[in-house]
Parts: sequence; structure tokens; C-alpha cells
Amino acid sequence: MGGAATKERTKHIKAIVPSALFTKQTIQETSTLTIPHIKQDNMSHSQISPAIYYWGTPVVLISTQNEDGSSNIGPMSSAFWLGNRCILGLEFDSQTTINLLRTGECVLNLPSDDMIPTVNALARTTGSNPMPDFKQANGYRYVKDKFAEASLTAQTSEIVNVPRIEQCPVQMEARLVQRMTTKGGFLEIIEVELLRTYVIDKIRMPGYKHRVDPDLWRPMIMSFQQLYGLREGGRTQESEENYRALAPLPGGSEDSLPQEQ
Ligand SMILES: Cc1cc2nc3c(=O)[nH]c(=O)nc-3n(C[C@H](O)[C@H](O)[C@H](O)COP(=O)(O)O)c2cc1C
Repeated sequence: MGGAATKERTKHIKAIVPSALFTKQTIQETSTLTIPHIKQDNMSHSQISPAIYYWGTPVVLISTQNEDGSSNIGPMSSAFWLGNRCILGLEFDSQTTINLLRTGECVLNLPSDDMIPTVNALARTTGSNPMPDFKQANGYRYVKDKFAEASLTAQTSEIVNVPRIEQCPVQMEARLVQRMTTKGGFLEIIEVELLRTYVIDKIRMPGYKHRVDPDLWRPMIMSFQQLYGLREGGRTQESEENYRALAPLPGGSEDSLPQEQ
């Protein structure tokens, strides 16, 4: 990349990344990457109108507490992550939504890609009784105990009054921050703060206290209503620690570096 182009790119990245998160090293390293030429054959675009814009997001099993003190699990995948917050897109009348808005608490459990039978056991079930008309018309079943239904084990949380799902390699206790109603009242956009995160040792990056090794973590991805795992990853020059300001450590310091690499 030429000098002028690099300068322009740096200016652009500075505009979208808060200065506290911006490192000169990242930009310099990125600018030395070789960009392969992508052949333009078969690259003509046609206009389409998808019924659903599910380009690929991780599946989340949200555990919440029912009014009678029992627990519910709602599978979902309209979720994305911003600093130590998660933004969830949920139908207004799911039992999960009702519970989360009433109690202000949930656990976001991430299944790995080998847990597709578990997610399928929970699909088309609801903890709502009576069942919403839409679900009745679409072949849903009322299931009171989704842990039993999917052979899952409840694990006590530390902060929230909602159990984690033991079989999920990643579990995040979370608290409601704010909500917004959209699509004529049909959907809720719910922001939750991630209070405490647990991961199994198998997916942790050796030498670091707070990192997940992306080569070891195999999230389950929903793409256009089908379930997948990730394929082989590609390397970038980015460091996740550049984003620490958005998810501060309680002690205030950075993640510890390995003694040897
Ligand atoms: C893999 C998967 C992903 C889903 N994603 C969403 C979603 O992002 N938002 C949503 O409201 N429902 C989603 N659903 C449908 C809910 O799981 C469904 O509404 C269910 O009845 C919720 O359970 P509950 O009523 O006990 O909360 C998804 C279902 C499956 C199986």
C-alpha cells in the first residue's frame, strides 16, 4: 500500500476506533499484509429479498427464571456483542423475554458445534403456557422443564438467580440494561451487561488469564435457519487486548502475558 493510501486508511480507522483503543503497531502490521487477487468470474450480483437476514451468528441458549422459581431455556441466535454488553433480538411473547424483562437477569450459554442434537431438542418448544397463537399454529410444544427435555444439567450461578447450563463450554451471567420494542411490538431489542463469564479449560489460551483460544473454541453458528460450525480460521494482526477499555478487568490491569511463547 502506498504512503498516501496508508495515511487515508489510518485516518479512516482512527475515525471509527476510539483513540484509546487505537495502536500504531496494529495499523503498520496490517498495512504489510498481501491482498490476494480475487478472480471476478462468477461474481455478478443479483438483487434478492431474503425472508430472514441470518448471515451467520452464534447460537445462544438463554436460561431465565420462571415466575414459580423454576428455570427455562430459550434457544436464539439474533445476538451480537459490544464491549461487555450483548444485544439480543427476541420475540416479545417468548417465555425467555417475559422472564428476562420481569427479573432483569439471565445466563447466556453458548453451545459448541457438536451440540446440534441438544439445540434441536429445544427447537419448537416454549415455556409459555398458554402458548402464543403464532407458536400454536407453527407446531410448537409447551415444555415445562427444558433442562430435562434436552438432558441438560443446571449449575448454580454466582450473581444472578438463574442456573447456568453445565454442558455449554461458555456461560455468561448477565443483567438487563435497557430494552427497545420494534416491528410493531413483535420484537424486543434487549441490552444486557455481562457480569461474569465462565469457560471450560479446554478452550482457554495457554499463558493468559482471560483469553479464549479461537483455534479451540467451536461455536455453533446459525445461518439461514441451519446450524453449522466454523471452518478453519484465518489470522489477522489485531489484538483483542486493544478492546480492553470496553470490557475493563475488575482489577484495572491488562491480561497477563505468557512467560514464554
Ligand atoms: C437455533 C435457534 C435460534 C433461534 N433464534 C431466535 C432469535 O434469535 N430470536 C427469537 O426470538 N427466537 C429465536 N428462536 C425461536 C425461540 O427459540 C422460540 O421462540 C422459543 O419458543 C423460545 O422459547 P421460550 O418461549 O420458552 O422462551 C430460535 C430458535 C432456534 C432453535
